[in-house]
Amino acid sequence: MSPRKRVVHLSLWMAVVAGFAGVALASPVVAADSCVTCHGDASWAVKNKKLFDYYQQWQGSVHGLNGVTCVACHGGNAAATEKSAAHGGDLAESNPQSAIYYGNIPELCGSCHQGVASAFAQSKHAARVKVLDGGPTCVTCHGSLNTEILSPLKIAAVCERCHNDATGNHPAIPGRASEVRRDDMMSEAFLHWAVAYYEAIGQPQALAAEQGQLAALRVAWHTFDLDQVQGGYEVIVKGLRDRQKEIQRAKVEAAKRAARSKAKDKTGK
Ligand code: HEC
Ligand code: HEC
Ligand code: HEC
Ligand code: HEC
Ligand code: HEC
Repeated sequence: MSPRKRVVHLSLWMAVVAGFAGVALASPVVAADSCVTCHGDASWAVKNKKLFDYYQQWQGSVHGLNGVTCVACHGGNAAATEKSAAHGGDLAESNPQSAIYYGNIPELCGSCHQGVASAFAQSKHAARVKVLDGGPTCVTCHGSLNTEILSPLKIAAVCERCHNDATGNHPAIPGRASEVRRDDMMSEAFLHWAVAYYEAIGQPQALAAEQGQLAALRVAWHTFDLDQVQGGYEVIVKGLRDRQKEIQRAKVEAAKRAARSKAKDKTGK
């Protein structure tokens, strides 16, 4: 690991600590951050539109809201108020030493999203990124400052940028990806419904195993072994369909019991 990388990692760690403190203490910690103060200046809207847009994307993003500040991803010194001292070097994407250089992005995002990064490392995508040859990185699918998890339609469009008839690189993949993403959303919807039932009857942990499996599949996606991931969703959905029948039977039984005891009350009077 180069000394520069180590500095970035140390500042990442500090930023995580400060980030969590920031969530607890609210604005004071953020106000002391020179990156945020300078980049957030409204005058950039006129002077440097691109700079302004980057800040706007970060603000209100899942990272912004969770205290992951500029320095956590870009490095630099958030205590220095003068630009070159704050940047501490060339932070541009084009600089192979920068944290946001194409080949360095999996390591950057993976410093916090470790499970995802180790699943990703097993994929052909990671192998291509490593040799700087056309594989998608984390930001290809999630965006950089304002990260999101793509819907089934959007995910197909992202895969299709590289997997299509013109490139001949597995053109069936986009369709498969949106199918798997739909299975994923169906499992989530099923699980949500069933968990609500068990919570209502005082058993909030009843489906903890299924919740764990779903979380693991979200990470396993990053191997891009679509058959395996889809198989995982199918098992969850099948199990939940059986649960659904059970729940419906239990509801019918409960309604019958309630009706019987009502009838008993009436004849008892
Ligand atoms: C005093 C204002 C100021 C401060 C403080 C500041 N920046 Fe910048 N930053 C700029 C300007 C202006 C640019 C546009 C490019 C240029 O002029 O160098 C920029 C550009 C950037 C870029 C784009 C890459 C590049 O070099 O052009 C990144 C990334 C960046 N800043 C991150 C940060 C981070 C992280 C911090 C805090 C550690 C920070 N900035 C602190 C003003 C500032
Ligand atoms: C979760 C990590 C992350 C955070 C937090 C983050 N950035 Fe970035 N940023 C990136 C990545 C990755 C890129 C490169 C990909 C791109 O341009 O979309 C980037 C690109 C940029 C660029 C353009 C760089 C270039 O060379 O053109 C600027 C400017 C920038 N960020 C500023 C900021 C500022 C200011 C903040 C805080 C308000 C911030 N970023 C927070 C990850 C992050
Ligand atoms: C300093 C730590 C840190 C770094 C670096 C970081 N993240 Fe995050 N990320 C978080 C935190 C904290 C959250 C919000 C809580 C959560 O969902 O785990 C988050 C949330 C996310 C989410 C949303 C997850 C969801 O369930 O909605 C995505 C997607 C994401 N990050 C992608 C990225 C990408 C891509 C990068 C690199 C450009 C990156 N992260 C870099 C800490 C980090
Ligand atoms: C080719 C597209 C693609 C790439 C590249 C990619 N992801 Fe994802 N990512 C996805 C999809 C699709 C999901 C949604 C899975 C789900 O919800 O079941 C996801 C989900 C996530 C989540 C949410 C996981 C959770 O537990 O809720 C995080 C965080 C994340 N990705 C981070 C990353 C990071 C970090 C990288 C780079 C190492 C990366 N992704 C690379 C497509 C991608
Ligand atoms: C930036 C380009 C790019 C994007 C976007 C992209 N891929 Fe890929 N993908 C590649 C490359 C390059 C390979 C390696 C092809 C090879 O070696 O045969 C690959 C290989 C794969 C493989 C392995 C195929 C096999 O059978 O060996 C799968 C699966 C895959 N991608 C899924 C996806 C999915 C799903 C998405 C969208 C969520 C996606 N890819 C988005 C470039 C991309």
